[in-house]
Amino acid sequence: MKERIIAIAADHGGYELKEIIKEHLGKNNIKYVDFGTNSAESCDYPVYARPACNAVQNGECECAILVCGTGIGMSLAANKCHGIRAACCSDTFSVRMTRLHNNANALCLGARVIGPGLALDMVDLFLSTGFEGDRHQKRIDLVAEIEAAGK
Ligand code: RB5
Repeated sequence: MKERIIAIAADHGGYELKEIIKEHLGKNNIKYVDFGTNSAESCDYPVYARPACNAVQNGECECAILVCGTGIGMSLAANKCHGIRAACCSDTFSVRMTRLHNNANALCLGARVIGPGLALDMVDLFLSTGFEGDRHQKRIDLVAEIEAAGK
């Protein structure tokens, strides 16, 4: 079985939460690759979303966890990458559903929106919930058609 490796990235708004998530993953023996940023100094979220998503695209990582102030910038950037289905979530119901129905492969979190306790619950749920497939695959394929056409 392929080793599970998670891509993780943040901008300055998400840096602190990224470090907390890394510690949590480490405690649970889940491997990750950290694509930065490495301090709370102001920076640009697309710069960090891009390599983390590239690692998912090329199969190095199974999925990505992307953190910024709201989670929105990271999700906008991630969803520009072919094959990335990024979901910006602030509650566990949405996290569960985006894995079950959307087969999301990137979870975007807003460090200024949610607290670390909820964030870690959401990370655990994201990593432990599988895709239901079936009728949902057809819808994902239709999304991919839009992506391919660019309109
Ligand atoms: C940075 O101030 C903030 O704009 C960024 O972290 C993110 O929330 C963007 O969507």
